[in-house]
Amino acid sequence: MSAAPGGLTLGIETSCDETAVAVIENGFTIRSNLIAAQEHLHERFGGVVPEVAARAHVEALNPLLERALADAGVGFDELDTVACTVGPGLVGALLVGMAAAKTLALATGSRFVGVNHLEGHIWANFLVHGPPEPPYICLVVSGGHTMLVHMPEPHRYELLGQTLDDAAGEAFDKVARLLGLGFPGGPALDRLSREGDPAAVRFPRSMSDSGDLDFSMSGLKTAVLRYVKQERAAGREISAADVAASFQEAIVDVQVSKTVRAATERGIGAVLLGGGVVANTRLRERMQADGEAAGLVVRYPPLELCTDNAAMIACVGAARAARGEATSLDIGADPNLRLTA
Ligand code: KG4
Ligand code: ZN
Repeated sequence: MSAAPGGLTLGIETSCDETAVAVIENGFTIRSNLIAAQEHLHERFGGVVPEVAARAHVEALNPLLERALADAGVGFDELDTVACTVGPGLVGALLVGMAAAKTLALATGSRFVGVNHLEGHIWANFLVHGPPEPPYICLVVSGGHTMLVHMPEPHRYELLGQTLDDAAGEAFDKVARLLGLGFPGGPALDRLSREGDPAAVRFPRSMSDSGDLDFSMSGLKTAVLRYVKQERAAGREISAADVAASFQEAIVDVQVSKTVRAATERGIGAVLLGGGVVANTRLRERMQADGEAAGLVVRYPPLELCTDNAAMIACVGAARAARGEATSLDIGADPNLRLTA
């Protein structure tokens, strides 16, 4: 058995466009959790520009580190563990956080633990719902990933299914752009959908009958594009709110039904949701309702812990440190790091 995570852990997350630093205590208690968002820098490009992201991390990280420690009332020399995202993500962006984390670990003599960003998204749940009690079925849905995994015990993950093309967050962002909602589009599309009718347009539920637990977003994306073009060509006014709500319903339908099926087929009673797309209002509602109807316990993090943050990275780092794990300072960034074997 692993020991309960003790002491103070610093988390650093710079895998994409949020510079994030957090301090947690005893593995699950947040002492400070800060984020410097860069959205305004990428907005005019309609997506994250890797070089811009890396440079913004360099500028934001040191002041954020000092503030996170000050807010937590903790000195550098009190840190037991320094945890940092080592992948997946943008390589230049990852390297900024890793250089800082390794330097800090070396200078303070604390333990360095490299963390997989996707494991962080899953563990965000334990910061609010208490320590892990596996087994779980986990749905991880972010800007770069869409996957269902089985977690039989802490830190072990078995891939059950994944997207064959775009990630769910990517699909949200692309359809949002089509509807002129700006970047990042997920939150804007979520808001607009509340004013629309989810049954207005019947978009395809891609792969809902495929018999496996994989996903595909490209057919749905094309269907939305075709619908909008066709209506505009016919001179008909489209309701962006109806299109948004109908698209969202199609994507949520498939995610919810496959997640519930994964859990019931395997006889696993608890589901964890993780990743930026879990901030989606409809996904949370539907997963809760359908999960409960199937007798499942459904857990998801509060909004601020769904999207990228460093508390989730610290949480994984502390738990791994408690098992005696430490990562060599020689480790490099891995943009394609996998969660499952
Ligand atoms: O996990 P995350 O913050 O970053 C990655 O690891 O990729 O996820 C970002 C993704 C973006 O595609 C964003 O549009 C989406 O999560 N997202 C949402 C919502 N909030 C964020 N998608 C749908 N509804 C939301 N409320
Ligand atoms: Zn993420």
